[in-house]
Amino acid sequence: MRIFEEMESEVRGYVRSFPTVFDVAKGSELFDENGTRYIDFFAGAGVLNYGHNHPMITEALIEHLQRDGIVHGLDKATIAKRAFLQKFRDTILAPRNLQYKVQFTGPTGTNAVETALKLARMVKQRSNVIAFTNGYHGLTMGALAATGNYFYKDESYGSRSNTAFMPFDGFLGEDVDTIDYLRKFLSDGSSGIDLPAAIIVETVQGEGGINVARIDWLKKLERLCREFDILLIIDDIQVGNGRTGTFFSFERAGIHPDMVTLSKSIGGGLPMALLLMRPELDQWQPGEHTGTFRGNNLAFVAATQALSFWDNDDLATAVKHKGEFIQKGLQKIADEFPQFNPKVRGLGMIWGLEMTPGVASETSAEAFERGLIIETSGADDQVLKFLPSLLIEEELVSEGLDIIRASLQALADKREKMMTGG
Ligand SMILES: Cc1ncc(COP(=O)(O)O)c(C=O)c1O
Repeated sequence: MRIFEEMESEVRGYVRSFPTVFDVAKGSELFDENGTRYIDFFAGAGVLNYGHNHPMITEALIEHLQRDGIVHGLDKATIAKRAFLQKFRDTILAPRNLQYKVQFTGPTGTNAVETALKLARMVKQRSNVIAFTNGYHGLTMGALAATGNYFYKDESYGSRSNTAFMPFDGFLGEDVDTIDYLRKFLSDGSSGIDLPAAIIVETVQGEGGINVARIDWLKKLERLCREFDILLIIDDIQVGNGRTGTFFSFERAGIHPDMVTLSKSIGGGLPMALLLMRPELDQWQPGEHTGTFRGNNLAFVAATQALSFWDNDDLATAVKHKGEFIQKGLQKIADEFPQFNPKVRGLGMIWGLEMTPGVASETSAEAFERGLIIETSGADDQVLKFLPSLLIEEELVSEGLDIIRASLQALADKREKMMTGG
C-alpha cells in the first residue's frame, strides 16, 4: 500500500475506507491481491448495477477491440454510437413514450449536470437555479453550487452563486409540505429568491442519506414548475438505470421532466454520461458545448449490451423482489439493535440504515474486516448505504446482511465493555 500513500494525493478517500489492493471482480464479489474475497454492497457508487465484468459486456468489449473498432470518436458518427442510440430509443424511450433528444457530455455525472444547468440558464435567460437540502449533483463549479453538504464547499471557491436551496421532502418533518413553502418564495416578489431557470432534484437522494421523495411531492413539484415556467431537471445519475425498480426513477410518480441527467450505470461499467432534453430545449449552436471524451465508444458498446437487460420486465421484477428481501432483512437487523436508534428507508435496491452518529462508519469498517464492502452516506455519514448490483444473488445478500449483523454485534459488545469498564 506504500506507493498509494507516498504518491497519491491526500484527497484519496475510498482507499482509506477499504484499505487493500483489489485485483479481480466478478458479479458481486471482489478479490484482493491476496485472494481475500469481498461481497460488494457498494457497486462502484452506483456504476455497477449490472455487476462487475458481466460476461455479455466483457465479450462485446473484447470483440470490439479485436476488430479494431473505433475507441475514441469525439462526437463523430460511429457504428457503436449508432447501435447505442437505436437501442436506447427502442428499448428505453419508445416504450415509455418519451421523446427526448440525447446529448453526450464529458463522461462523468457532474459533466451532465453542468450541461443541464448551463442549457437551462441559456434557454430561460435566467441565472438562478433551485436545488434541495441534502442534494448531491457533483463537484465541478455549477454542480457544486447545487450540492448541499459543506464538506465539499468553501466560500473561496465562489461556488454558491445563483443557486438557492429549498427544503427537500421531509426536511422540515413529515407534516410540513415543503412545496407549499417553495411556492411562497416563488410567488412573493420580496422573498429574495429570483425566479429560477430550473429546479434540479434527485427523486431519491443517494449521497444525501437515502431520502425518498414521496410521489405526491414529486407531482406537486412538477405542477409548480409548470405554473411558474421553471424547467424541471431530474438528476437520475445515481438512482436511474433501474435502481429504484423502473429504468428512470421518476416513472413511479408519472411525471415528465424537461431534462434528465444519466451517468454511472448507463455505461455498463465504463465512463459515460448523457443529458436527455425535450426537443424544443435543444437550442445549442453546433459545437457550443463540447468535451474531448464525449464519444467513448467502448462505453457505447458496453451500454448497448447493458440495455438489453431492459428488453423485458425480468430485471424490474427482480429488483422489486430483492428490494423487499433487503428491506425485510434490514428491518430485522434494526429491531435487533434498538440501542443504535436505527431507521430503515429506501426504495427498490437502494436502502439506508440510519443510526446514531458514528455507528454507520464504524459498522462499515467492521464489515470490511469481515469481507463486505459497504459505504456510508448522509451529511454526517450517519447512514449505512446498501447499493448492491441489481443482479446480486439472494444468497450473497443474505451473507452480506449476516456480516452487518455480526459487525453491529461487535460494536455493541465493544460499547458494552467500555460502559462496564471491562
Ligand atoms: C445524483 C448524483 N448526481 C451527480 C453525481 C456526480 O457524478 P460524478 O461523480 O460521476 O461526477 C453523483 C455522484 O455520486 C450523484 O449521485
